[in-house]
Amino acid sequence: MKQLEPGAKATMSFKVNGNMVEVEVSAGDRLIDVLREGLRLTGAKEGCGIGECGACTVLLDGRAVNSCLVPAMQAEGREVETVEGLAKDGRLHPLQEAFIEHTAVQCGFCTPGMLMSAAALIRENPHPTREEIARAISGNLCRCTGYHQIISAIEDAARRMSQERFDRSRLESSGPAVTEDLGGSSDEHRHK
Ligand code: FES
Ligand code: FES
Repeated sequence: MKQLEPGAKATMSFKVNGNMVEVEVSAGDRLIDVLREGLRLTGAKEGCGIGECGACTVLLDGRAVNSCLVPAMQAEGREVETVEGLAKDGRLHPLQEAFIEHTAVQCGFCTPGMLMSAAALIRENPHPTREEIARAISGNLCRCTGYHQIISAIEDAARRMSQERFDRSRLESSGPAVTEDLGGSSDEHRHK
């Protein structure tokens, strides 16, 4: 990792939510500064600034980190994911949908960090138990909800995501049968 002398500036590049970006950083900048001020990605929040609240959680190479503790230069050449990257093609991520449906959001300050910790967990462990979920978000503090709805939302999202994967793989492996369902003659195609 490049170290900057006090007062020095440098340009660094890294991937954010799938896109390469180049930003100017100053000595002492943290990843959260670059995201919020340099790139205007204000989803990650600064609560405590000392690694205690988890409001600033983002993924660095797939692992949940407190972006208030990561020196900006440490992200050079690496991949960062923020809450802004969760929704795809105009559709909310299943975690976001589940948080809304389970009323797991009140003031919302902790939500981006919670979502990113949950996203990292489900990627690593697609079927987490409530205890595993509680452990995974133990570094994310919420002053409003009492955690119960948050854990239920994450549990539900994990269930939906594995159901979606199952449905997709069934659809892919039963291509001709779908033709039949739609009125086509799949047998003809199969036996020709
Ligand atoms: S702002 Fe980073 S842990 Fe609180
Ligand atoms: S919803 Fe307010 S801190 Fe969690």
